[in-house]
Amino acid sequence: MHILILHGVNLNLFGRRNPKHYGTASLADIVARLDQLAIELGVSTEHFQTNSEAEMITRIHRALDEPVNAVVINAGAWTHYSYALADALDILSIPVVEVHMSNVHAREPFRHESVLARVCVGSICGFGVLSYELGLRAACQLAAEQKPTS
Ligand code: DQA
Repeated sequence: MHILILHGVNLNLFGRRNPKHYGTASLADIVARLDQLAIELGVSTEHFQTNSEAEMITRIHRALDEPVNAVVINAGAWTHYSYALADALDILSIPVVEVHMSNVHAREPFRHESVLARVCVGSICGFGVLSYELGLRAACQLAAEQKPTS
């Protein structure tokens, strides 16, 4: 089973960015924890981070022709306004799980809406790095349920 983990705009600066909301783990630390969990779960993962919305959408399009079973995405601020990203995710016929480090519902009103939620199976937020770990577990479970039984 192969899970694509997407990290959006500004997330390359985790660890150096507003620790009150995002803690002190860097993106490399998050990737290391998810790699460890992937080994435990017996799945393979690929991480992709970009600050370019166009690059992110192109990466999602590529997944159409790849053996990807599910997607975990933290889209950063794109979450709240990118209909283009929502449309790209909607093209995929595999489960998509939305994750956020911070509790977006306890923050500024513009963060309360996710325009991606419509195309995601569910959303996990507010648990720091654990949000990603729970998201990866959910993605694996959903992908396993989608697999044909024969
Ligand atoms: C975030 C929450 C977003 O509102 C914000 O724009 C981010 C990070 C999170 O992980 O908590 O960049 O996605």
